[in-house]
Amino acid sequence: MIHSVVQVRSGAHRYRALIGSNLLRRTGEYVRKHLAGQRCVIISDSNVAPLFGNRVSRSLISAGFRPIPITIPAGEKAKTLKQVGTICEQMIAAGLNRKSFVIGLGGGVVGDISGFIAAIYHRGIPHVQIPTTLLAIVDSSIGGKTGVNTRDGKNLIGAVHQPSLVIDDVDVLKTLPRREFNQGFAEIIKHAIIADARMFGMLQDWKASEAPALKQLVLRNVKIKSKIVAKDEHDLTGKRALLNFGHTVGHAIERAGNYRKFLHGEALSLGIVAACAVSIKRAGLTSRQRDAVIDLLQRFDLPTCLPKNFPRNKILSAVKFDKKFENGKIRFVVTPRIGAAYLATDVTLNDIREAVAAL
Ligand SMILES: NC(=O)c1ccc[n+]([C@@H]2O[C@H](COP(=O)([O-])OP(=O)(O)OC[C@H]3O[C@@H](n4cnc5c(N)ncnc54)[C@H](O)[C@@H]3O)[C@@H](O)[C@H]2O)c1
Ligand SMILES: [Zn+2]
Repeated sequence: MIHSVVQVRSGAHRYRALIGSNLLRRTGEYVRKHLAGQRCVIISDSNVAPLFGNRVSRSLISAGFRPIPITIPAGEKAKTLKQVGTICEQMIAAGLNRKSFVIGLGGGVVGDISGFIAAIYHRGIPHVQIPTTLLAIVDSSIGGKTGVNTRDGKNLIGAVHQPSLVIDDVDVLKTLPRREFNQGFAEIIKHAIIADARMFGMLQDWKASEAPALKQLVLRNVKIKSKIVAKDEHDLTGKRALLNFGHTVGHAIERAGNYRKFLHGEALSLGIVAACAVSIKRAGLTSRQRDAVIDLLQRFDLPTCLPKNFPRNKILSAVKFDKKFENGKIRFVVTPRIGAAYLATDVTLNDIREAVAAL
């Protein structure tokens, strides 16, 4: 078997994530097993399309599909409603209909925007995710959250639209810049903290990034994310909220840095350190385990303290802007020990202030 399969269940939806090496050149064959139509768009970005666009296109054509490539500028700035409108108009002009489908070939930006287009085009057509960043493979391509940003904030417009198929080819990660690769590990370490103490131990001994090791790691993370999502597709029961571990402060740091200073995974790394501090106070996490988390983040060159001149006061205002406080308390994910997490209701703004001051 050249790839592993994770069956993802979400509400009434079932789909597969294929994980392996050298899968892109068989895209057509895999897609053919799941989708009947002929016409599709391959949405990609200006960095990824030149690297993998042809390989994916050729494979689709040889399986009898008629793909149209659409390339957007690389980066978060392209994740807008305006871009969605432009792409939809191109799709209409090309005569794509209800039987057509959308392939997203790229990182989380491409995954989110292509998924959103699939959710709304002709009121919803199938979506195939081909994630090309580690973050997109282990996180954003699973779970069906799609959307775009507006002037006032990230991901304020969107839809839940599950993909029909996810193709995780770990070979694509070879061209990923080191900083982008490392930020994916912030989500992986988060998964280990909330759900998998053994994986945490494995990461402490992590040396190489060769395909077999990477494949195993991806497999484990896709399983963790899909298991949590399966229990709570629409974020209603609080289970999915566990995935937000480290994100309350992480998002606030991203915002305070105007989304330029830190990549998402880097801000998350700092948010994880803050969440560990809150967990020591509110959930009985030991300081030894907190130190182990910090060591692990540092192994992947992720930041664990803020630069001296960083506007810390902006972090607190961003937390207040983002989150609802009831009687001065906030819902905040804490970890009592590595491998477990729960949603606490007794965390105060002051706890967060102290944790941020210590960063
Ligand atoms: N839907 C969800 O559940 C979810 C979860 C987490 C994050 N997200 C979203 O994901 C986005 C971030 O995703 P990201 O970190 O993948 O960023 P990204 O898509 O911007 O990719 C990062 C950079 O790497 C480049 N790149 C991608 N693959 C490459 C490859 N194989 N080789 C060389 N370069 C490559 C891209 O062109 C880009 O410049 C954010 O918009 C975030 O909101 C969504
Ligand atoms: Zn995240």
